[in-house]
Amino acid sequence: MKNIPVIMIIFGGSGDLAHRKLYPALFNLYEQGLIHDNFAVIATARRPWSHEYLRGQVSDAVHETHSEVNENNLAEFASHFYYQSHDVTNVEHYETLKNLAQELDDRYSSQGNRIFYMAMAPRFFGTIAEHINDQHLTSTGFNRIVVEKPFGRDLTSAEELNKQITASFAEDDIFRIDHYLGKEMVQNILPLRLTNPLIKNVWNNENIKNIQVTLAERLGVEARGGYYETSGALRDMVQNHIFQIITLLAMPEPKDLTSKSIHEAKQELLSSLVIPSEKEIAAHFVRGQYLGSDVTFGYRQEPNVAADSQTETFVAGEVKFKKGPLAGTPIYFRTGKEMREKKNRIDIVLKHKSNQYGRAHSNNITIIIDPQMQIFITINGKKINESGIRREDLSYLFSQEEQNQVPDGYERLLHDVFINDSTNFTHWSELKNYWHFIDQIEEVWQKENEQGHEPEQYLPYRMGPKAANKIFETPTERWIYD
Ligand code: BG6
Repeated sequence: MKNIPVIMIIFGGSGDLAHRKLYPALFNLYEQGLIHDNFAVIATARRPWSHEYLRGQVSDAVHETHSEVNENNLAEFASHFYYQSHDVTNVEHYETLKNLAQELDDRYSSQGNRIFYMAMAPRFFGTIAEHINDQHLTSTGFNRIVVEKPFGRDLTSAEELNKQITASFAEDDIFRIDHYLGKEMVQNILPLRLTNPLIKNVWNNENIKNIQVTLAERLGVEARGGYYETSGALRDMVQNHIFQIITLLAMPEPKDLTSKSIHEAKQELLSSLVIPSEKEIAAHFVRGQYLGSDVTFGYRQEPNVAADSQTETFVAGEVKFKKGPLAGTPIYFRTGKEMREKKNRIDIVLKHKSNQYGRAHSNNITIIIDPQMQIFITINGKKINESGIRREDLSYLFSQEEQNQVPDGYERLLHDVFINDSTNFTHWSELKNYWHFIDQIEEVWQKENEQGHEPEQYLPYRMGPKAANKIFETPTERWIYD
């Protein structure tokens, strides 16, 4: 693997994301040789840590995620880490950061290449971007920036943030991360759709009745009540992960597999995204909030959550496009906290093609993303000694060995940033369309709140509010996974 020379600056270096995801992922990339002698990482945060303390943290982070570690490699890897105490609002601190980056650039011969990683609270993204620009932190080699979600909280704030970032970075150098795009089964959607004629030939509005995307979580909001109050399930999961999955399911076939062609195909689809009317939102969208149980808090009792909060912890809804192979086909989605089990899955429901055998079972193609990786296709066959139709599943479950080979989404995506492949990142043109849709739903819900309509309360560890079973366009549709 090619060794990429670079100085990486992480804003939010003492945070949870850096500890749980970025440091272990960087270690794996180091062990594979993608980064080696010519890299250094500057972790910044407000806390007064020393380089040594940071290196201890990096080492702990690697131990916590790896069962076996080569200690010599780890010590050598950690020695490339530097800590800089940094207040993102203090202009002088950027000067210090710039000088340290320059010094490390000389020491590690990293050819003036920089990767900036925004891994801290999103309210600081704009300020950081502004000071990277006015304090001239970009250098003479490549300059890339990785931005965590959420990218804004509505279209207007996303536009503002984008303006601040594009003052220093070209669109191709902005990597808006969505960790779902690093997941194995999400990356499998296009090959599955496009390479097998049995699947490819039915992937259209003639044969697909509807698609159902479920991202269900067992956990509640835990310690993230403060953030979640500003977000809710719609902004936290739909605006990014669900929309990216839906885009991959519904986009036209790209002319080749380059990042450019894939983003063009996505854009072609998204320019035809239907923005639902108020009436459609009332009929096809449901928002919910989890209640407590004997042993768990309800959402409104969680720390940092308002006692009369209207924030949704569950949402179900419908997306439609005017163009693409699935033009007009309903794509239903739901996501929620404190549902029955962790399950991320996509069910593609095929239309019935014959009435000769009475009511045949629904034929589906199902992709399970998490926690196991699996694809199954249901088929109908005759019952052996009686009349009627029986249902069978043709299933491919990834073996444990295969699952173990799959890198964490962050490792995959960081790798892509190093090699400058933006295929699996969100482009601005996509994001704009997603926000447009989300803003419309939020606006209608805001009105509903003012009229005293609250999110539906739902019992924890079930499948969300019952009303979510009534969002379908026709009476013959239902959730396949229930
Ligand atoms: C994050 C959300 O983007 O995705 C979290 O902010 C959510 O609220 C998480 O829990 C789910 O990711 P995964 O990979 O565990 O399905």
